[in-house]
Amino acid sequence: MALEPSFAAIAVVPPGLEEPAAAELVALGAEAVRPLRRAVALRTTRSGFYRLHLQARLPFRLLRELARFPCHNREDLYRGVQEATDWGRWLPPDLRFRVEASGSTASLSHSHYSALQVKNAVIDWQRQHFGARSSVDLDSPDLVLHLHLSPGRPGGGGAEAVLSLDGSGTSLHRRGYRAALGLAPLKENLAAGLIALTGWDGTVPLADPLCGSGTLLIEAACAALGRAPGLDGGSPRPFSLQHWADFDADQWQEEVKAARALARDQGADGRPLAPIVGLEQEPSVLAQAQANATAAGVAPWLDLHAGDARDFLPPPGPGLVVCNPPYGARLGERDALEGLYGDLGRMLKERCGGWTLWLLSGNPELTGALRMKASRRVAVSNGGIDCRWLRYDIR
Ligand SMILES: C[S@@+](CC[C@H](N)C(=O)[O-])C[C@H]1O[C@@H](n2cnc3c(N)ncnc32)[C@H](O)[C@@H]1O
Repeated sequence: MALEPSFAAIAVVPPGLEEPAAAELVALGAEAVRPLRRAVALRTTRSGFYRLHLQARLPFRLLRELARFPCHNREDLYRGVQEATDWGRWLPPDLRFRVEASGSTASLSHSHYSALQVKNAVIDWQRQHFGARSSVDLDSPDLVLHLHLSPGRPGGGGAEAVLSLDGSGTSLHRRGYRAALGLAPLKENLAAGLIALTGWDGTVPLADPLCGSGTLLIEAACAALGRAPGLDGGSPRPFSLQHWADFDADQWQEEVKAARALARDQGADGRPLAPIVGLEQEPSVLAQAQANATAAGVAPWLDLHAGDARDFLPPPGPGLVVCNPPYGARLGERDALEGLYGDLGRMLKERCGGWTLWLLSGNPELTGALRMKASRRVAVSNGGIDCRWLRYDIR
């Protein structure tokens, strides 16, 4: 059988999670994997690209490179886009499209303007060749084009454009299980990445005593039980790549079947999953966590209760505590939160000796109140807030 040709692609990932995202992509068969800033470069085949859409938990987006060309000004951009590919094949006028742009060069510094330039180049091409043009649809386009500009050297030499197709069309972090949003929920792919950094594999207990809408626990359970993030109740979510000129329905079905076959009711070692417990003080938020766990198909493995984190009684361990306590962005909340962090530190030392704590901190002063020394710090960004994912060995 002839070897499937490969192409260059980019996974857009949460800042700080480039390394675990690269490891995940390698494990899913991607090649030439190279962590960048907020992104990971890779090569893959068409079936590999399908697999990544169905199974990768960390990316926001997966972009398939169509063309890469020097780009110093708007004329370069216009010409480069027109020559990038056979637009008649990828974008016949009856398909609707949208253009997104990121990055900049010295003379193309406004993403919105650069995106317009791409759109104009494409529809002018269509008019010349077909006498008709595609309409732009911002909400539910058939094809999503992505332009990334990089500035090159100071002064503009070496500036480059990469034009890609976005395989999902919407952000991959929306798994579909979360109709209900708690207070300040974590994005699903960020939660999955934080869990990946802990190395939790389902063999020891996992607890989140401030679980909110349950994202950390749900993502952990989904990973341990092989629930593919691109499937919703066993069926694939709609992906933009299904409208592509070279979409191969048989290959797609093979990958969907393979993703479905990963689901199991035990851990990867065939043994029952260790307890996964959550506490949340707000009953309405707890109800959201329960609804989300049900929608994600992992409710039977989660033990979620209403209660105060200070009253947390760990199951027999040692195990892992993960949490994302409030940071208190508003003035006046600080004192109460310092008290909460102090109580958490005392409770953990009293009842969870030998366990490991991973805590997402958005405020170093508050984590000081834990009176514990972090053994690892990973800088991540949570909705634009500069945070640290901190590991503590509880003694
Ligand atoms: C930042 S949110 C956690 C968000 C969660 N990671 C998610 O993705 O939905 C913090 C949560 O801690 C809860 N909380 C605050 N103080 C608590 C306490 N003493 N005991 C239990 N839960 C508490 C809040 O109600 C809130 O839902």
